[in-house]
Amino acid sequence: MPLNVSTEESPQLLLENIPKASVGEPTNYPEVFRPIHYLGSKLRMTPSIVSALDDADIARGTVLDLFAGSGTTSFALADHRQVIASDIQEYSRVICSALLVRHLGTEDVVSTFARRLQASSPLADALRSAVQPLIEFEQMALEAAAHGEAESICLVLEHGSILAAERGLGGGSSNELKSRLLEVTRRLAQAGLAGSSVATAVRYFGGAYFSYRQAVELDCLAALFADAFPQELSDLFTAALLSTASHIVNTVGKQFAQPIRPRTKNGTVKHHLLAKIQRDRQIDVHTTFLGWLGQYTTHKVSGDGHVAIRADYRDALKNLSGQYSVVYADPPYTRDHYSRFYHVLETLARRDNPEVARSPGSAENELSRGLYRDDRHQSPFCIKSKVAGAFQELFKLASGNGANMVVSYSPFESGAHPRLMQIDALVSLAREAYPSVELQSVDGISHSKLNQSSLNFDIPSEAEVLIVCRLAP
Ligand SMILES: C[S@@+](CC[C@H](N)C(=O)[O-])C[C@H]1O[C@@H](n2cnc3c(N)ncnc32)[C@H](O)[C@@H]1O
Repeated sequence: MPLNVSTEESPQLLLENIPKASVGEPTNYPEVFRPIHYLGSKLRMTPSIVSALDDADIARGTVLDLFAGSGTTSFALADHRQVIASDIQEYSRVICSALLVRHLGTEDVVSTFARRLQASSPLADALRSAVQPLIEFEQMALEAAAHGEAESICLVLEHGSILAAERGLGGGSSNELKSRLLEVTRRLAQAGLAGSSVATAVRYFGGAYFSYRQAVELDCLAALFADAFPQELSDLFTAALLSTASHIVNTVGKQFAQPIRPRTKNGTVKHHLLAKIQRDRQIDVHTTFLGWLGQYTTHKVSGDGHVAIRADYRDALKNLSGQYSVVYADPPYTRDHYSRFYHVLETLARRDNPEVARSPGSAENELSRGLYRDDRHQSPFCIKSKVAGAFQELFKLASGNGANMVVSYSPFESGAHPRLMQIDALVSLAREAYPSVELQSVDGISHSKLNQSSLNFDIPSEAEVLIVCRLAP
């Protein structure tokens, strides 16, 4: 899937207007911003989704967006009807909540927060001072890299994990890095922060995904809003933190699937990546965070009563029965689990000290290079043996609860990422639960009905498809 945004955009530049719909479709779209760099957002297609939902539910009742992801579609739908945004991931719930729920009393939250950032905080001081040996090492490594000496910065990316050091690993071939990692674990323990979720960003992801300094500042921000602001604003702050993490992360494509590999297999430094490593690792966390916080507090959502929840799609369909009148479903379609690309955001949202997965075949205390959560969600939609059953349940539960449904079907991408379900098989499953199933092809702005007389659909490979399922023809 193509990335939605380039790697260099500032929060301000991420603002965009949804394209105007073609004749006959709703035109009053709110200004939407993309909260995170996200694969597969359906923002571009919103006019067609809105129109298909209106066809499926003329009364404009509540829509249940079952796979809400980055929240941009839910937010755009909120202009037209009440929305329940649901996703299995906590980071998605947090972002959807910040986008959809009106937060009162936030007018001067940015200036208040900026002032509080200037004030001293014993916890932040302790954290910064504990990690200082690594912050210094990385600073020297970046300066050396600027003069063509890239060995140390490569080691930070490859072997700089504090979590690994807590398990007696880390440091690679460098005694200097090893001893600094040990010193940091000792200082964290002395400050009462050994194994602490207060230090989540720096312990789990410092060095690998963010500079140590950036990771410490992400933790300090989280500590500040947990300590000094009302709990009701927690989703708002956490969403701004997640947007910040997505913006500053030092990876190719701003995803979290894996840290940058700074060398080729034979050990040669990839010099073309050094400028990017320098640039990303020097993005200022406070400025970026305050920018995002401003963005979240000033955007306007239409209507009241929107809700964001974290739930498996089956539980949402069952437990919210009677509370929605139409369903929008945009599940994954390839074997790539979304949780692999966003595990860092999930851990930053939950701060729950998860176990980290091992790489297959590695030693017991060795961590996966991507530092994935061990309990990373495995979606049945991404598993060949489970996908048909997953769709069957989706259609059965939605129709059993009396709701019409619009399903997005993503186009074929590349040989390495084929769809696990073909469109004809999907339509057959839909027809087991719904008497009327109609296909619409979407070109990003308008949509057209496809010939349904045979299952041999002639769909252009780049076209997105909406499957509109109705209980009454
Ligand atoms: C294609 S993305 C949705 C994108 C979204 N429509 C947008 O515009 O940002 C698919 C989403 O399905 C979620 N997901 C996967 N399996 C799930 C399950 N069993 N229950 C609920 N959500 C699930 C993933 O976490 C991911 O956010």
